[in-house]
Amino acid sequence: MPLLRVSLLASTLLGLTCAAYLQGRHPTSTNEDNQYTLQNKRQAILWDFSHIFYTEKNVAKAFNKYVTENYTQHNPNILDGRQAAIEALTPLFSTEGMVFEIHQAFVGGDYGLVHVKAVTPGQNDTAVMDMYRFDGLEIVEHWDVLQTMIPGVNPHPFF
Ligand SMILES: *[C@@H]1O[C@H](CO)[C@@H](O)[C@H](O)[C@H]1NC(C)=O
Ligand SMILES: *[C@@H]1O[C@H](CO)[C@@H](O)[C@H](O)[C@H]1NC(C)=O
Repeated sequence: MPLLRVSLLASTLLGLTCAAYLQGRHPTSTNEDNQYTLQNKRQAILWDFSHIFYTEKNVAKAFNKYVTENYTQHNPNILDGRQAAIEALTPLFSTEGMVFEIHQAFVGGDYGLVHVKAVTPGQNDTAVMDMYRFDGLEIVEHWDVLQTMIPGVNPHPFF
């Protein structure tokens, strides 16, 4: 018993010493904490945005909540700006029977990636990679890549 206590005490002291040592070695730890917090907030935003946008298909709600007014758009068929995106996507997303399945949604640095399967009755399914750029806690820019899901030589599924 005393031996266990001594070893617990020793490992606690070792842990504290290591923590103090690491703290000392990283004078920018506050900065790192801030980066970590920012990353977590952006991750939460991306998940909530994706849920409202793709799952609930409430384009206006998702965009008004998280997208900046002068959103930069790289999809050649939609003009810049939050309102232009809402106007272009709302009719599309209200297509009868259209469903989006979110397979991945994650944040790295200033970017958020969402890998989505879009299913529209009577059409080939589409694999979509939407990339968003964050400025602070706002989504300010968007790129997308779309792939028609037609079977090829490789039997691995698209998702
Ligand atoms: C959007 O507007 C803000 C505020 O006016 C400005 O700081 C920012 O540079 C603009 N972004 C783009 C991409 O035009
Ligand atoms: C789906 O893709 C196949 C292969 O390209 C094509 O022949 C077919 O017309 C497409 N179906 C629809 C509904 O567009």
